[in-house]
Amino acid sequence: MGVFRSDLCAGRVALVTGGGTGIGRGIARALGLHGAKVCIASRRAEVLEAAVRDFEADGIDAMWVPCDVRDGAQVEAVIDAILERWERLDIVVNNAAGNFPAPISGLSYNGFKAVVDIDLRGTYNVTKAAFDKALATSGGHVVNISAPFDHMGVAYQAHCAAAKMGVDSLTRTCAVEFGPHGVRVNGIAPGAIGGTEGMARLGSGDERDARCPLGYVGTPDDIANAVLFLCSEAAAYVTGQVLCVDGGSAVDMSQLAR
Ligand code: COA
Repeated sequence: MGVFRSDLCAGRVALVTGGGTGIGRGIARALGLHGAKVCIASRRAEVLEAAVRDFEADGIDAMWVPCDVRDGAQVEAVIDAILERWERLDIVVNNAAGNFPAPISGLSYNGFKAVVDIDLRGTYNVTKAAFDKALATSGGHVVNISAPFDHMGVAYQAHCAAAKMGVDSLTRTCAVEFGPHGVRVNGIAPGAIGGTEGMARLGSGDERDARCPLGYVGTPDDIANAVLFLCSEAAAYVTGQVLCVDGGSAVDMSQLAR
């Protein structure tokens, strides 16, 4: 049983990019189980279709639209499809991301660009289209999924870390510009979240992933609960913030004392 009222998001419409798998799927499902109508969008139609079938089996009103977030026209088509079907859009979760581990010497110009384009420019594209077409007049919420990489260097993650820190910057700028329109914009920086493609690509897959102060690998529900909180009235005065949901990893400097 969840910790939030089951009708927390009743009457609201949400878009979750990359919502067919992993963290995005967990977020989309949680929003749907709390009453939101949910659209998921990403490049892979087959995973979107399967996810929507599962959501519908859980009684969630859901749809999917294929979309590469790097393409502004495709992004606009997603927003148009949502507005055509449900006539509103209230919650946008920018979760779509691309990543792979590579040292700078093994990272081509295009490899860096591909990840920055998906993570940073994709977040911009979706946020701008959603704001211009819906949120600017109706108000709402944007939640950007980034990474707990501020103030540190992360080997093999030059592309992802640069992109995600750009996303955090966008979170703050959008919060300032959109606040007067009744739009709150916040970020979530997940730590190691089990059962995800990102973890499969980057994690060690063993107990080292659980080396955070709370002592376990997180779940998509841990991130989904943070999204529900940020989009709820409990966070009514919160905007421009990035909430680290990582079991305490980012603040753990204990190795300095060993
Ligand atoms: N190591 C080094 N370079 C890599 C790489 C790797 N493991 N994987 C891809 N690249 C490079 C490619 O070689 C290419 O560069 P090049 O043109 O100089 O050869 C560049 O990245 C783009 O790859 P491509 O496969 O054409 O791009 P894409 O747009 O189809 O895919 C990626 C984007 C690369 C981010 C791909 O990994 C992806 O689609 N990921 C989505 C899912 C995901 O990453 N989930 C985890 C999120 S945490």
